[in-house]
Amino acid sequence: MTTTEPVNLWTSNEHARDYLERADSISHRGEGEAALLEFIPATARRFLDLGTGDGRLLSLVRRELVRRGQPDTEAVAVDFSPTMLEAVRKRFAGEPSVHVVTHNMDEPLPALGKFDAVISSFAIHHLVHERKRRLYAEIYGLLNPGGVFCNLEHVASPTPRLHREFLKRIGFTVETEDPSNKLLDIETQLGWLREIGFVDVDCAWKWRELALLVGRPT
Ligand SMILES: C[S@@+](CC[C@H](N)C(=O)[O-])C[C@H]1O[C@@H](n2cnc3c(N)ncnc32)[C@H](O)[C@@H]1O
Repeated sequence: MTTTEPVNLWTSNEHARDYLERADSISHRGEGEAALLEFIPATARRFLDLGTGDGRLLSLVRRELVRRGQPDTEAVAVDFSPTMLEAVRKRFAGEPSVHVVTHNMDEPLPALGKFDAVISSFAIHHLVHERKRRLYAEIYGLLNPGGVFCNLEHVASPTPRLHREFLKRIGFTVETEDPSNKLLDIETQLGWLREIGFVDVDCAWKWRELALLVGRPT
């Protein structure tokens, strides 16, 4: 019997570059990012960004904290794509408070210490469902009391028609969509977060298949 490996094209330089070229034009993402920033605790100092890409979300969070008068932060940015790692290192070159860690999130996270916020945007849906749930449990264990987990995510539509409509709005079809996507409905993911022990679990923002999942450890 042969088993097929789940598809994940993100280590391809072409795939990563293609995303970076259109990242700014993804419909409504700015709204989701703004909603996420609201959940970052005022006292947060240490952050983890999972599937950081070129560090876009981390950069927004750092800028927001500076705006709030909290410039003294430290961050860990995790990814496994050579193109993304090069881009995030370039973005934060000369910033000793940002540590870039090469890691395939299919595997358990390495020891990274504790965090006040674990953030992620459009990355965890590239992991198989079983691994998504285990990663959520690992994240719970990494959060300091008073911390938060914010996952701005690509989730499954309730019906194939709604999925096709979403794809059309972002310029794709079922034939051209990223085969690395392993979309999962929002209810299942919110349920997992509650089972793991997160509180104040909610879908805090949503536009079609883009959603912000939030939970706190305490
Ligand atoms: C759609 S991009 C999002 C990047 C960034 N967070 C953003 O919002 O622009 C998905 C990111 O997840 C990363 N990724 C996908 N699968 C991964 C895995 N198994 N381990 C680590 N990173 C992964 C990709 O390399 C890529 O940087």
